[in-house]
Amino acid sequence: MTMRTRTLGTTGPQVSALGLGCMGMSALYGDADRAESIATVHAALEAGVTLLDTGDFYAMGHNEMLIGEALRTAPAARREQALVSVKFGALRDPDGNWSGYDGRPAAVRNFAAYSLQRLGVDHIDVYRIARLDPDVPIEETVGAIAELIEKGYVRHVGLSEVGAETIRRAAATAPVADLQIEYSLISRGIERDILPTTRELGIGVTAYGVLSRGLISGHFARDRQLAANDFRAHSPRFQGENLRHNLNLVEALRKIAEQKGVTVAQTAIAWVLSRGEDIVPLVGARTRERLGESLGALDVTLDAAELAAIEEAVPADAAAGDRYPTAQLAHLDSER
Ligand SMILES: NC(=O)c1ccc[n+]([C@@H]2O[C@H](COP(=O)([O-])OP(=O)(O)OC[C@H]3O[C@@H](n4cnc5c(N)ncnc54)[C@H](OP(=O)(O)O)[C@@H]3O)[C@@H](O)[C@H]2O)c1
Repeated sequence: MTMRTRTLGTTGPQVSALGLGCMGMSALYGDADRAESIATVHAALEAGVTLLDTGDFYAMGHNEMLIGEALRTAPAARREQALVSVKFGALRDPDGNWSGYDGRPAAVRNFAAYSLQRLGVDHIDVYRIARLDPDVPIEETVGAIAELIEKGYVRHVGLSEVGAETIRRAAATAPVADLQIEYSLISRGIERDILPTTRELGIGVTAYGVLSRGLISGHFARDRQLAANDFRAHSPRFQGENLRHNLNLVEALRKIAEQKGVTVAQTAIAWVLSRGEDIVPLVGARTRERLGESLGALDVTLDAAELAAIEEAVPADAAAGDRYPTAQLAHLDSER
């Protein structure tokens, strides 16, 4: 299979049209199987996926070490094709509690030094602060990444979950390859101001949550028991009546998927792929089976009638519940 590619913005790298988000292999969605996670990264690289996404705070370095091991044990040709996108800035404690964000230049350099060690690489391909630090102007944080680029430790500046004004300020400081932000059939907020801004400035989008953390994958059972440390146990969209409403949307989507002979997850991913060549969905597969399903979306072409049917089944703003709990929404510059 020849992997389709897309380019992250006018200054960013060429990457596979689907990226692999590795977060769930270490954190936030309950237990994961380490050996299967590494096998999934290897299978992705083998299939031509070149973009791997992580955050240094995903289980406090665990996810970076896992990717480091997967890269070390992959065939050299595959390893050399891999591009690693890293988020930094979130502050944790040994109990896993979250205590804000740090975007000061000295902190950026410190975070990068540790990430390079854990990943076992000599550079990070795209480096971004996970959330805007409200106490540090974005120019200072991005300026620190630009200095790391000059020194060869980083290749490209990325952004995460920031709004149009912050995007403009960042882009005025240094070339920005991509904005990483939630985008799916049921999270379409970026279409209003953010996507027009990235398009005007030639910045790509790496879309996360394209399956809304499994909610619109077609595999999420209403009675699924979630561990207390699973993000979904606290996410408004997965609670009670909201969950019932949202899973009804999934059933409407399932009818369209079945008519086309594809899965619900493939339909949801193909919809994001259809939104523009500037958008690269990150899929959060953590098993080879789910990865295989996600990669199948690359072969799904949706024509105008199918796109219209999908949007009728799942209209914009149809989801019940916010995409984050209130306390976490407050950290999203993109929601201001
Ligand atoms: N910048 C940010 O603020 C931010 C925030 C969140 C995530 N991210 C990045 O984006 C990546 C993707 O986000 P996400 O993991 O929330 O996205 P997602 O792809 O919407 O959700 C992944 C979850 O969906 C379920 N799933 C069901 N069918 C699947 C299929 N065919 N393929 C993949 N997953 C399937 C899996 O849950 P089960 O295994 O439980 O079935 C999996 O854990 C993350 O790994 C992370 O790197 C960035």
